[in-house]
Amino acid sequence: MVRTAADTAAMTDFFALHLCNLHLSVTEMNKSPDAQRMEKIVSLCKRRGFIFQSSEIYGGLSGCWDYGPLGVELKRNVKNYWWRVIVHERDDVVGMDGAILTHPEVLKASGHVEGFSDPMVDCRTCKARLRADQVIEKKSGRQCPNCGGRDLTEARPFNLMFQTQMGAAANESSIVYLRPETAQSIFVQFKNIFKNILEVSRKKLPFGIAQIGKAFRNEINPRNFTFRSREFEQMELEYFCRAEEGMKLLDYWLGERLKFYENIGIGRDGLHVKTVSDEERAFYSKGTYDIEFDFPFGRQELEGVAYRTDYDLLQHQKASGKSLDYFDEETKQRFVPHVVEPSAGVDRAVLALICEAYSEDEAPDEKGKMETRIVLRFHPRMAPIKCAVFPLLKNKEHLVAKAKEIVDLLRPHMNVFYDESGAIGRRYRRQDEIGTPFGVTVDFETLGEKGAALRDTVTLRDRDSMKQERILVKDLPGILVSRIT
Ligand code: GAP
Repeated sequence: MVRTAADTAAMTDFFALHLCNLHLSVTEMNKSPDAQRMEKIVSLCKRRGFIFQSSEIYGGLSGCWDYGPLGVELKRNVKNYWWRVIVHERDDVVGMDGAILTHPEVLKASGHVEGFSDPMVDCRTCKARLRADQVIEKKSGRQCPNCGGRDLTEARPFNLMFQTQMGAAANESSIVYLRPETAQSIFVQFKNIFKNILEVSRKKLPFGIAQIGKAFRNEINPRNFTFRSREFEQMELEYFCRAEEGMKLLDYWLGERLKFYENIGIGRDGLHVKTVSDEERAFYSKGTYDIEFDFPFGRQELEGVAYRTDYDLLQHQKASGKSLDYFDEETKQRFVPHVVEPSAGVDRAVLALICEAYSEDEAPDEKGKMETRIVLRFHPRMAPIKCAVFPLLKNKEHLVAKAKEIVDLLRPHMNVFYDESGAIGRRYRRQDEIGTPFGVTVDFETLGEKGAALRDTVTLRDRDSMKQERILVKDLPGILVSRIT
């Protein structure tokens, strides 16, 4: 299996010249506005606890990332929303959670052992290992994007799977793989799931099996922050159908997936659909779309939506000798279903959300002087923290007590943050920078010290407009829940 469309097509000269080497080497790029923006995003992610390089204190593990307190919330929100719209809100999809360690026969049958590879070129001058599509092609010959050297090897296939040994005996027969995609465990459990769940509940084709989980690829050059990692997460749906429904369902799922991205806050303008050409498409696919996003480092794939025909189930049926067919009670037909697969990367969706949300505007500081404000304009549904609660002053016991009461009131409904330190303007800025959409301030009016009319009311501040409204405390949960779901 040769890697398809998205991975091979999108390398522009920009990447080849400036980004080939990186995970965090944006600082080395010519500081174009996009490069500066990316640099600020990477730095914000570290400073505010979204994403750190894995094993950083030991020099970092290339292509691996750790999500900090805010990053993990953001990632969970993406995964939970995907699960909600793909599994919980539908009658025709169930979920599963497969093992990461995978039997070698599974990946032999799927074609990964033989062909899940990228063409790799070595630069003999700087010793860089390059994906063939990173090499700069000039009239005068091929050039290393890293050092400019011209002493390059021919391209040879490099298998991207991580392999390990299972059990105490380390020999050929103990080899297992870390799964390179979540899809295969769905295919090999197709019959079990159908028998146990779908047949009992009298589900018929078309129906889907969904999974969110880790996948591993030994990328030759992990790059663009988390965009191309060696350990990452996928959200995959295998939607089984009849052959004659395949092309129609491919378009249906493209539409659904575009809606998903819009609903998590990615504007339609920044999303692009690429119809993968016959030459670029996997040989078994009858149609594939890539959903792409305008990252600061260029237009790149977020998700693939592919009509994979009956290739996968047939391969596993042949290799295992176990029937993976479906019997239609109504028509009395027995056949191996076809499948349409929307396959999304969690880390790419998270990175797209951060890139989309990052913005700078002007706002007055405490003394009324305008200053630059950094804001992550996350959709409230995705924001890691939904509401921050501030007592106006931390040394006024009653303000603090009331603010903590409000935290307790909101906590069962959402992720809330309590902050009492520093001037109120500074506290707002800190929340703006991490994308908290709402801020509640408890002041002397709340305590009734400025008259009975405003007792038990608070100010509710909107992150984007910075406007404040006065709200009854008892109405807060309802108002906020309606704005974050
Ligand atoms: N089952 C089909 C499949 O795995 P893919 O295009 O290789 O197809 C699907 O991967 C999605 O997984 C991609 O669109 C991307 O979002 C994500 N993905 C793939 N490789 C990745 C990597 N090295 N780092 C981060 N995300 C990756």
